[in-house]
Amino acid sequence: MDLHLGGRVVAVTGAASGIGRATALLLAAEGARVACLDVQEAALHALADEITGTGRTAFAHRLDVTDPESVEVAIAAVTARFGGLSTLVNAAGVGGMVQFADLKLAEWNRVIAINLTGTYLTCHAALPHLLAAEGASIVNISSIAGIKGQAYSAAYCASKGGVALLTRALANELARKKVRVNAICPGGVMTPLIAGMNLEGLDMDLIGRMQNPTFSLGQPDDVANLVAYLASDRASYITGACYAIDGGAVA
Ligand SMILES: NC(=O)c1ccc[n+]([C@@H]2O[C@H](COP(=O)([O-])OP(=O)(O)OC[C@H]3O[C@@H](n4cnc5c(N)ncnc54)[C@H](O)[C@@H]3O)[C@@H](O)[C@H]2O)c1
Repeated sequence: MDLHLGGRVVAVTGAASGIGRATALLLAAEGARVACLDVQEAALHALADEITGTGRTAFAHRLDVTDPESVEVAIAAVTARFGGLSTLVNAAGVGGMVQFADLKLAEWNRVIAINLTGTYLTCHAALPHLLAAEGASIVNISSIAGIKGQAYSAAYCASKGGVALLTRALANELARKKVRVNAICPGGVMTPLIAGMNLEGLDMDLIGRMQNPTFSLGQPDDVANLVAYLASDRASYITGACYAIDGGAVA
């Protein structure tokens, strides 16, 4: 299916790794001009070089989604470079499992700041540009942990549930202004976020309740494919949706 992303300018947060990286690569391959945004600058520049090396268009800019000034500067850099912004993909995020009794306020604040407040900040900064763009949309990466409670994930679930309802609130508010806002809720996807999790001392039976029937993990491209579709005009009647991509975990 040709998604006709040729006219699109897409900003992808969390582009240095995992789902964000796969999304930046796929959207660029589909013809979009892609701004790769993340705190990991070396990986970002390597990604932008990889994309431009294929003849596609990309550039890298440092972004810390927890810092309002950094967000404003990065979005301004994207629009200065590409003359506008039509699609925002929020894939920056952190996760981890910890027993609630051991969840310190600093960790709670860190997870909420990156996953939830960071999504608010980028949406807020991007909005004036999205309102001026054709076929504008936002795709937020929530999680099945934003749909269903998950043990050892109080801050993560709270942040991702917040992202899901932030998505729906904006979808209602912006529909008449022609900005679509959707969320994707992945189950386990093989990325550094999952690979680096420390599960020591946790009850694996409780963790297993979030598994899908085949106990399988998805790949970053599984998510990127749906991002590309939701960003395209093929999805022009879709807004306010939160799609699970999880091999059936919340089925
Ligand atoms: N991997 C999974 O199983 C899974 C499941 C559900 C949801 N998700 C969500 O998908 C998104 C992408 O995760 P991933 O699995 O690709 O992880 P990842 O660790 O591979 O990538 C996350 C990226 O976010 C960036 N990031 C972190 N803090 C940042 C900040 N303050 N400012 C800018 N960038 C920052 C990191 O540098 C990294 O490049 C996250 O929101 C995550 O919660 C992942």
